[in-house]
Amino acid sequence: MPATTTPADFVAWFRSVAPYINAFRGKTFVIAFGGEVVADGKFVELTHDFNLLAALGFRLVLVHGARPQIEQHLAKNNLGDTYHQGIRMTDEETMQCVKEAVGRVRVEIEALLSMGLANSPMANADIRVAGGNFITAQPIGIINGVDLLHTGSVRKVDVAALNDRMDFGEVVLLSPLGYSPTGEVFNVTLEDIATATAIALDADKLVFLMDTDGVHDKKGKLLKELTIAGAQEVLSGKRKLPDDVSMYLPCAVRACEAGVARTHLISRHTDGAVLQELFSDEGIGTMVVESTLNTLRAATIEDVGGILHLLRPLEAAGILVRRNRELLEREIERFVVLEHDHRIVGCAALYPFPDEAAAELACLAVDAQCRDRGYGQIILDHMAGVAKTQGLKKLFVLTTRTAHWFIERGFSEADVSALPAQKKSLYNWQRKSKVFVRKI
Ligand code: ARG
Repeated sequence: MPATTTPADFVAWFRSVAPYINAFRGKTFVIAFGGEVVADGKFVELTHDFNLLAALGFRLVLVHGARPQIEQHLAKNNLGDTYHQGIRMTDEETMQCVKEAVGRVRVEIEALLSMGLANSPMANADIRVAGGNFITAQPIGIINGVDLLHTGSVRKVDVAALNDRMDFGEVVLLSPLGYSPTGEVFNVTLEDIATATAIALDADKLVFLMDTDGVHDKKGKLLKELTIAGAQEVLSGKRKLPDDVSMYLPCAVRACEAGVARTHLISRHTDGAVLQELFSDEGIGTMVVESTLNTLRAATIEDVGGILHLLRPLEAAGILVRRNRELLEREIERFVVLEHDHRIVGCAALYPFPDEAAAELACLAVDAQCRDRGYGQIILDHMAGVAKTQGLKKLFVLTTRTAHWFIERGFSEADVSALPAQKKSLYNWQRKSKVFVRKI
């Protein structure tokens, strides 16, 4: 335990990880990283993280690249890089360099994955690395009159063989090469290998470790979550994207469209990025998913515990009036809950007063860890819509502490006398809540 962590923090943190361990055990993850990670001497830390994932029973396929090593070999042999439309052309001599460079990187990775030093995170580690002819490739062929020769793309992935290895508890390490039925070797990009493998295995996750820390919006803000449509919008925009985003984001879309549940683009420069992404709710990079993970739905009796969990801290702080469990159970059909990734992160209740054509929005609460994600707005918009379909004209709230939030959203202060008669009679004069109203 680090000296800065209290035992209580440590225990709370460790417990918070349990849902992910349960959710991910036995699931297949394809994790891809460029040869830069090895060249920069950063692979040791990454090894520690892979070791942990393997120890937790995740099925791992690692895919490595070798671009800087190939470039080094080419330079040593006085051979230039020939790129055609961003794709390396691999002639006979280049292929020799590719084989040598890939072989060296692979050996280094295998060596590091074999470490087991006492007093290191690898103590007692027992990672068995599997390799083999799992990838069948085909030549990319001739593009605009240029024959790319030994540059290939994935044609087939030997799913049964990969699963056999993982069933035995082995970690599969794939190199950026593929073989053909005629015995040829092809130079294939790591992203093609990783994406095709994730799709073929129907993997639960595909992770790319890259130079930037994820995909950013126009203003430079990190986009933590992108749907396929959102990712396509980024890709078709006019803005020049960083090279790694242009390279990996289309792969994320391709994987996601083919059924890989989640693709994560994270920084290779942040120590423990894989752990931070996998074992926290908000992650550290960009996650590409098929469609949004937020669902807003009517609450059911099973949600009472989750709602109470949200309300209690706000009640304790005096922001909301305390409600007991029985009351909540009785009024549960008035509530909606907002879920993110199957976890309740927000709620609110709507109490209509049809005689006055008004509705009260009550108990609007968002999990403190999920602030600034626009969840409150989503719930407010939804509730306003519901009230409108019921033919109501006004939405009001009673609040002691969050007036500005409502004012910013078009509410204005009103007198207690403006409340529906029934509500007025229940008004708690000691609490001195302010009344805010908005037309809907
Ligand atoms: N830990 C969860 C997962 O691995 C959620 C990660 C969310 N990451 C993000 N960049 N939004 O599936």
